[in-house]
Amino acid sequence: MGRSNPAPTARSRALLVAIMMAMTMAARADHVNKSSSSYSGGVYWSSAKEDESIREGDHDDFDGGFSSLDGLLQWAIGHSDPAKLKETAKNAQQSSSDELNKRQLEIKELMEKLKIPSDAQLMQIAIDDLNNSSLSLEDRHHALQELLFLIESIDNPNDFNTLGGLAVIVQELNHFDPDIRRLAAWIIGQISQNNPVIQGEILKLGVLSKLMKMVKSNFIDEATKGLYAVSALVRNNLAGQELFFAEAGSMLLQDILSNSSIDIRLKKKAVYLVGDLAECRLENIDKDELPFLSDRFFLKAVVDLASSSDLDLQEKALITIKNLLQLRTTDALVFKEFCGLEAALGRMRVQLQDLIVGEYQRDFAMDLERLCNEVELIFHRKLGRGGN
Ligand SMILES: *[C@@H]1O[C@H](CO)[C@@H](O)[C@H](O)[C@H]1NC(C)=O
Ligand SMILES: *[C@@H]1O[C@H](CO)[C@@H](O)[C@H](O)[C@H]1NC(C)=O
Ligand SMILES: *[C@@H]1O[C@H](CO)[C@@H](O)[C@H](O)[C@H]1NC(C)=O
Ligand SMILES: *[C@@H]1O[C@H](CO)[C@@H](O)[C@H](O)[C@H]1NC(C)=O
Repeated sequence: MGRSNPAPTARSRALLVAIMMAMTMAARADHVNKSSSSYSGGVYWSSAKEDESIREGDHDDFDGGFSSLDGLLQWAIGHSDPAKLKETAKNAQQSSSDELNKRQLEIKELMEKLKIPSDAQLMQIAIDDLNNSSLSLEDRHHALQELLFLIESIDNPNDFNTLGGLAVIVQELNHFDPDIRRLAAWIIGQISQNNPVIQGEILKLGVLSKLMKMVKSNFIDEATKGLYAVSALVRNNLAGQELFFAEAGSMLLQDILSNSSIDIRLKKKAVYLVGDLAECRLENIDKDELPFLSDRFFLKAVVDLASSSDLDLQEKALITIKNLLQLRTTDALVFKEFCGLEAALGRMRVQLQDLIVGEYQRDFAMDLERLCNEVELIFHRKLGRGGN
């Protein structure tokens, strides 16, 4: 099956499911108090993972090509059986909360009747397409976009693995087109997030060094997605971190943090990763700390980012400094004398005061100030203990 097949795409399928879920939920709201409702919106959506990627700035737009929600709905309804949809809506209105599970089953049956392919089937199509070397660049791009959408659902990354998707997606990292490589790295990052099994499988395929090379790409979108994938692979994964350092990961980070002409998106991801690595050491105190995390040039590069003009970068730098200060091997005097931490915090406070007085970004500025105070407290405690 190729892309010319008019089967619903992942996006249109998700939309239909959303409409049906909305109808079910509307019906349910009539019967159950909202405050007591813990219904998460159905089996098809994950949210925790999305928060993570939003925070990371990786939840980029999925442009469905529809100019309005209305157009989208029209399209979805036009591609389904109107009589059945109407019937579902009518039935849903009469349902009680007890019938919710039954409703969901019915939705599943309805989707089968309407011949809407399952996520697994759609993933299979996309994987088969990618595994076809004669696929056009455009169709390859399309298949990757589709997968990106499908793996948002909570169970799908594991299914993706079962269907043999990992080997196929890893191949795409070697594609000549940087945008194909970017999408492949993005998918690898998404499926590895908080999933030790997938992290392990991907690390076994030996792509970490490939992804690290991508981070040095001149095509900044490829570089940021490369670093996104690297971060997802080594987060809370000590084996992954070992590989990362064996591949000169500390140099890679140092180069990004200390080079003023590097794109700010890359800097944010790098400083965030450093904070993650430090946190992981704090949580695994039986493991040796990483020497580069107490290197003064490295620490200075991080502290300097706290004086950036970008609030988001400042916040990430502060969180990272907070973690670094708590490591046994870092020296408070280095933060004080070599990095100029006090002066950096002072400058930040002045800048934040202006924002707190104004309306624009006031809440964020107040959060940042609290974080500043926390960092200062930890710093002074460490100084008081004689440096460590
Ligand atoms: C809904 O809330 C009202 C008022 O708080 C309460 O009297 C009623 O028992 C609740 N119904 C259910 C189903 O929890
Ligand atoms: C591979 O893709 C080409 C071009 O889209 C298509 O003609 C061919 O049938 C595909 N092969 C397989 C095995 O699906
Ligand atoms: C990809 O195609 C090859 C043959 O060209 C096949 O051996 C392999 O199983 C396919 N992989 C997947 C995941 O479908
Ligand atoms: C800093 O980054 C720029 C842009 O990526 C690069 O061209 C330059 O070589 C880097 N400088 C150093 C000293 O690494």
